[in-house]
Amino acid sequence: MGEGIKESGIKRKNLFVTSKVWNTERGYDKTLKAFDKTLSDLGLDYLDLYLIHWPANELQFGKDANQLNVDTWKAMERLHEEGLIRSIGLSNFMQHHAEPVMSKANICPMVDQIEYHPGFTQEDCVEFCQKNNILVEAWSPLGRGNVLDSPLLKSIATNHGKSVVQVVIRWVMQTGVLPLVKSVTPSRIKENVDVFDFELSQQEMLEIASMKADRIGADPDTCDF
Ligand SMILES: NC(=O)c1ccc[n+]([C@@H]2O[C@H](COP(=O)([O-])OP(=O)(O)OC[C@H]3O[C@@H](n4cnc5c(N)ncnc54)[C@H](OP(=O)(O)O)[C@@H]3O)[C@@H](O)[C@H]2O)c1
Repeated sequence: MGEGIKESGIKRKNLFVTSKVWNTERGYDKTLKAFDKTLSDLGLDYLDLYLIHWPANELQFGKDANQLNVDTWKAMERLHEEGLIRSIGLSNFMQHHAEPVMSKANICPMVDQIEYHPGFTQEDCVEFCQKNNILVEAWSPLGRGNVLDSPLLKSIATNHGKSVVQVVIRWVMQTGVLPLVKSVTPSRIKENVDVFDFELSQQEMLEIASMKADRIGADPDTCDF
């Protein structure tokens, strides 16, 4: 990534670079070290956003889980105060993981990046975040491609003269969530940003909200990595 950024010639201020502290690096000192390595690997002098990738959970850490998350957060706060990270946040934290961190925090998490796609919307978590002014980012908003064959989404897309993917991106945005769509295909990347010239109706939003889908990633409470 660092090499790609250098070769692109794009000015740093025109990029938004996010990274996350991985599960093996939780805790105050380890997080500071992991961040140093990330910054030097990327060849950058600051990050725009840094997240705790997964909460330490009770299954793995018993009653020490919350303290471990707090210690990791304290390191994130320090890095933010030192100007090395513009924004700090969480990923895969549900309300019961986030609240103990927030109760000890000087800086409220700014972001929570969670699994979110049609049929799997984790409403409780989104409501909690939105109440607390935490921006929800949707990971795997296309369900890694699972949504592409939905007859409902296909019919809404046809009505708007848009693709299914554009409809899903628009739906995520209209729910107040930030879609993090991944594509390595230049034509798709262009297609995926072309979503600002149409709006889904309330009825269409309700129809999409009634879809059902399974979780595709790990459950933050039962994952053991
Ligand atoms: N925080 C976490 O724990 C976590 C976990 C998982 C993922 N994420 C992040 O979430 C982001 C997205 O997740 P994801 O990659 O799992 O799933 P996704 O964005 O839902 O789906 C990506 C798939 O959709 C395809 N696609 C993209 N645009 C398309 C289009 N216009 N038409 C047809 N197909 C299209 C991509 O193909 P091509 O690339 O081949 O074009 C790729 O196969 C990634 O940046 C990832 O790092 C975070």
